[in-house]
Amino acid sequence: MTRIFALSGSLRVASFNTALARAAQEHAPQDVQIEVGTLHGVPLYDGDLETRDGLPEAVLALKARILAADALLLVSPEYNNGVPGVMKNGIDWLSRADMKAVFGGRPIGIVGASMSGFGTITAQTAWLPTLKLLGGVVYSGGTMMLSRAQNAVDAQGRLTDESAQKALANYLSGFAAFVRAHAK
Ligand SMILES: Cc1cc2nc3c(=O)[nH]c(=O)nc-3n(C[C@H](O)[C@H](O)[C@H](O)COP(=O)(O)O)c2cc1C
Repeated sequence: MTRIFALSGSLRVASFNTALARAAQEHAPQDVQIEVGTLHGVPLYDGDLETRDGLPEAVLALKARILAADALLLVSPEYNNGVPGVMKNGIDWLSRADMKAVFGGRPIGIVGASMSGFGTITAQTAWLPTLKLLGGVVYSGGTMMLSRAQNAVDAQGRLTDESAQKALANYLSGFAAFVRAHAK
């Protein structure tokens, strides 16, 4: 069984990115198990807070979930042509938790959903320098961008668009093979 931890970078209850992460659970190959997490409870990074209290509980919990998985899947929104601050903040905290264990040599995929026609192409590219620095092994064998997510996800947060479902399934099957080939 290949285990993937999918981290949504949106805090919204009705987030299209969290919906995409949940859809990934449904459309993963049979031998792939996907767990979904969010960044709720992660405070803004503050070096004084870290010195005083150490790592926040929410960060330690995310770290444990990533370490228990074979791979990390970032499900990232795009804000102003870049990565969302909420998600970068979470990744920054995780880099303080144990950069080598959390990211070093870890297979990492990037997907995302946005309301525009360009999916999250700019945000996905913008993640690359950070993931390179962190030592992740980034999957580049496929792309999954959910454009105009408002037309592809229903009111219950289900991915209903068939071509998006197929694209997601294809991405996940390629990513899972990559994860198996690059097992940590
Ligand atoms: C501050 C802000 C900036 C945004 N910038 C972009 C952008 O550059 N490109 C884009 O496709 N969508 C952009 N959007 C729209 C998002 O795609 C949309 O809000 C989306 O629903 C966010 O993901 P979520 O549903 O998972 O919260 C932006 C939204 C916000 C709030």
